[in-house]
Amino acid sequence: MPPQITFFATKGGAGRTVSLMTLASGLMSLGKRVLVIDVTADVALRGQFPTTLQTWEAAVRQSGIAGGTLSVVLCDDITDFSQLIEGAQHDGFDFILVDTSKTPTEVSLKAARVSDLVVAPFTGRNEARFVSDGLVEHLVGETNIVGLITGFRNPADVQSAIEIFAPYPVLSTQLSFIPPFDEQITFGSMERYFEGLRRIPLEYGINIETRDHQQWRHQAGVAMTATISLANEIIGRVSHRV
Ligand SMILES: Nc1ncnc2c1ncn2[C@@H]1O[C@H](COP(=O)(O)OP(=O)(O)OP(=O)(O)O)[C@@H](O)[C@H]1O
Ligand SMILES: [Mg+2]
Repeated sequence: MPPQITFFATKGGAGRTVSLMTLASGLMSLGKRVLVIDVTADVALRGQFPTTLQTWEAAVRQSGIAGGTLSVVLCDDITDFSQLIEGAQHDGFDFILVDTSKTPTEVSLKAARVSDLVVAPFTGRNEARFVSDGLVEHLVGETNIVGLITGFRNPADVQSAIEIFAPYPVLSTQLSFIPPFDEQITFGSMERYFEGLRRIPLEYGINIETRDHQQWRHQAGVAMTATISLANEIIGRVSHRV
């Protein structure tokens, strides 16, 4: 079975979806075929509005960089979930990434328990405490859990948040609070976003949403570096199981 990584945090807006997209982007840049299982979707909305991950999947396909290497599937049934992960290898996927909602469900708890790694993102000190408490409560006895620092508005808090998050370790890759992580939804993969910006000559002097082109390009580079670093760090963590 391909390595499975579940993004789990009992806190709304913890950064689960953005960090999942970032990891998927990095894995795709390394040529990996990624199955994303979205167990968050509200059944009632299906077919009416695309979910964030479906919108992003369409952008990835449109960008043409990762044709056939990303597939997003919605799932809220435990039997369907088991079939999806059992079929993933046969279907040619190298990694399974699962996005969950803040409220644990039967499927999200199962996903976390059968994962090779649970990634728990948090955006600040208070969130570190809240997310860590939720892990202790819902995933008793699970050991393959790591925190991920993402979107910290106050970088000075990082060290104390890491201490608060104990007993769980925290990934050394951090996702800073910059727009490119958010903008993956519209631009597809981080690599595509980064390459696209590089092709626009600096002398165009683009000024979009108060960011000048040079700053934009710099932020995209920072995000691209973190994206590849995250993918490599996660591969290292699960590689003994590959
Ligand atoms: N590193 C980052 N840089 C910039 N924005 C970020 C970063 N991480 C998260 N965000 C933003 O923070 C918000 C919450 O992130 P996200 O949607 O990933 O959280 P979530 O845990 O999936 O939330 P939800 O409870 O809605 O499912 C989003 O608007 C996202 O774009
Ligand atoms: Mg989400």
